[in-house]
Amino acid sequence: MNPGKLVVGNWKMTGDVARVQAFAAQACGELPALGGRCEVAVCVPHPLLMAAQAAWWCTPLRWGAQDCSAADDGRSTGDVSAAMVRATGARFVIVGHSERRHGRGETDADVSAKARRALDAGITPIVCIGETAEERDDHRAEEVLRRQLQRLVAALGASLGAVVLAYEPVWAIGSGRTASVGMIEDVHGFIEHVLRFHGQRDVREVRRLYGGSVDPRNARAIMACPGVDGVLVGGASQRAGDFLEICKAATGCAAGMTQGSEDG
Ligand code: PGA
Repeated sequence: MNPGKLVVGNWKMTGDVARVQAFAAQACGELPALGGRCEVAVCVPHPLLMAAQAAWWCTPLRWGAQDCSAADDGRSTGDVSAAMVRATGARFVIVGHSERRHGRGETDADVSAKARRALDAGITPIVCIGETAEERDDHRAEEVLRRQLQRLVAALGASLGAVVLAYEPVWAIGSGRTASVGMIEDVHGFIEHVLRFHGQRDVREVRRLYGGSVDPRNARAIMACPGVDGVLVGGASQRAGDFLEICKAATGCAAGMTQGSEDG
């Protein structure tokens, strides 16, 4: 069964209650017309999770957080646990975003521990992986991706099937430089190869997104790439009109796949 594409917004450290409400109005008006052919979620800053729950629970829009703690012992001042995120009705939590790996020094072990906590709490972790510009220029992109994936597989084992992976090349985030369709296809194929090598029997169970300067103009071509199950959208998800255009592109791809007529 083709569950359709998954479109996830990442508002980063932006947004307020007024924007949550504006998205509710637009989501109620336009998402039902997509006929449930794509799954749509927005990951908001922690203080907006309750507002998202209040405004979006009766719309097709789901919500998530952008991080959770690897700890769960009640002694982590300032952190937010996966269970707390879950208590707001959130379905998703982003972990290992490059702005946290590189900006906050999070290690592969931290990211895997957060993904484990999210799964234990009953939310789907969206685990970001990706190489920097220097790593790609040094022909080390595959080495970096393999290392990030290996740690995750080692920590999660058979639960990996419940995770969403997001390939986000660091140099493409917020830069307006999207990876080419050929590169996205190659990397998604490589991810599949690594997962298979590590004994993930049903690789197709692991949903794989692309992220990095996705916008309404390039979304359809990206989502038409083999192995790409959806997109993680930063800047463009902060504007309801652009975000809905990307959701429509996702629905077009899902319909095209079913008819076998997608030409990319
Ligand atoms: P961008 O961000 O779409 O603005 O490049 C993507 C992300 O940070 O997840």
